[in-house]
Amino acid sequence: MSEADCRFSAPKGVADLLPPRSALSRAATDYFGQLAPLWGYWPIETPLFEKTEVFERSVGGTSEIVTKQMYTFEDKSGDSITLRPEGTAGVVRAFIEHEIYKKEPLPWRVFYAGEMFRYERPQAGRYRQFKQVGVEAIGAEEPEADVEQIELCLTFLEGIGVVSPRLLLNSIGDKACRPRYLEALDGFLSSNDVSSKLCQECRLRIGRNPLRVLDCKRAECRRVTEFAPKSVEYLCGPCRVHFDAVQAGLQALGIEFVLESRLVRGLDYYVRTAFEVISEGLHAAQDAVAGGGRYDGLVESLGGPPTGAVGFAIGVERSLEATRWANILSIRQPRSGSKAESAASSGLLTPGYSEQKGPPRFRIRDSSPDVVVVGVDDSCRTAALALGSRLRREGIATVVSPVGKSLKARMKYADRAGAHITAVIGPEELTSQTVAIRLMGSTEAKIAKQRTVPSNRAVSEVLAILRSESSEGDGTVSTSAQREPK
Ligand code: HAM
Repeated sequence: MSEADCRFSAPKGVADLLPPRSALSRAATDYFGQLAPLWGYWPIETPLFEKTEVFERSVGGTSEIVTKQMYTFEDKSGDSITLRPEGTAGVVRAFIEHEIYKKEPLPWRVFYAGEMFRYERPQAGRYRQFKQVGVEAIGAEEPEADVEQIELCLTFLEGIGVVSPRLLLNSIGDKACRPRYLEALDGFLSSNDVSSKLCQECRLRIGRNPLRVLDCKRAECRRVTEFAPKSVEYLCGPCRVHFDAVQAGLQALGIEFVLESRLVRGLDYYVRTAFEVISEGLHAAQDAVAGGGRYDGLVESLGGPPTGAVGFAIGVERSLEATRWANILSIRQPRSGSKAESAASSGLLTPGYSEQKGPPRFRIRDSSPDVVVVGVDDSCRTAALALGSRLRREGIATVVSPVGKSLKARMKYADRAGAHITAVIGPEELTSQTVAIRLMGSTEAKIAKQRTVPSNRAVSEVLAILRSESSEGDGTVSTSAQREPK
């Protein structure tokens, strides 16, 4: 055998990530790790593999992922193990296993970054091992949680420079209204006129899981399903209210979206909100850089209590391919006057030295929020959402407390979440366009700092308090971006 024959290459569909592209991927994941705490998310790490059943019971027995794409093997003790094809199932398994619902204030907000494995036909933007960054908010029942996650997702994608990100939105109902919709969809797809025009695989899907037909990317199927019944026309009352509130919240934050009736997502656990972000920078067949939605029934179906939840994941390789950085960094080494140098000068590749002497200090990021925004009743929801968004834009970690709970419970939540400040908006504040700002804890000095301020000054007021708090303490800047654990 010649020496050349002995050379190995990486398995099909996986790739080495070499410098300088590796720096780009690392920078993107680090960036997500900086943003997510501003929305109140702590990092979580779950295993790269789980018992196969965890995925079968969550992602769904009829999904493409479970039927075709899982890397499943028997380990030496005969257990069936699967390399994770996505992150949500493992996070939910951990939530139940560690009985987080008994110990922590809900919603439990966690973010992750890591490798996922799917046995797919490799092509541009589609790999067998790929990286996702994502978040899960478990115990989040209210539509504001969906809106805030979409805001975080788009902030990341815009921050790394994804070309023309476009948000697609749909509601696919819940177990109360979905059966009626599925019946209508099944009726439409089964009619001779329609089914004869579908691809062979979709014809098989009709009886098993007709929603999957709407997912098919083949041109002939897309042409037919354009006229399929729409899930939003079959929503029950509570699903309708939820979907309207999600749209109103997005509008309040100035986030544009397109209603896409065929967006059903490829995983079976979704209910109500489903969303994807696509980019013109990618090939149309693989143009989704991110996807997510609600999975209110999943915790219960894996053995936990009934719990609302919402999450999303972003494909790191795919979103980087949708940016201009991908071209800049495809050249091999930075040379004088090269395109990579212009990447450096624009701040992507920063020099590896700093003003500070010695190696960098080891730091642990504190993800407890600086501020919890409390909207007193339903009428204050949008104002609370908008204030949360304004605070985060200044680098202040902010969580908007759910309106569903009593005011006392929400103040307690703010305390348990470790917030420094609560910003309260009630009907009175709404009328006078003010915000009541309170410092958590009860020392006299803190009580003296409680005040009602005009809402257009709320952000600068919060910043001033956080700065003065930190100068009274250890002298470090106090927003969560730089703060160390309390
Ligand atoms: P997903 O839509 O299957 O959702 O994946 C999210 C993103 O991962 C996709 O939009 C895409 O960018 C990327 N991705 C998926 N498959 C591949 C592949 N083979 N190669 C490269 N990139 C890929 C989920 O995984 C859900 N767990 C998201 C979620 C979290 N829903 C609720 N919480």
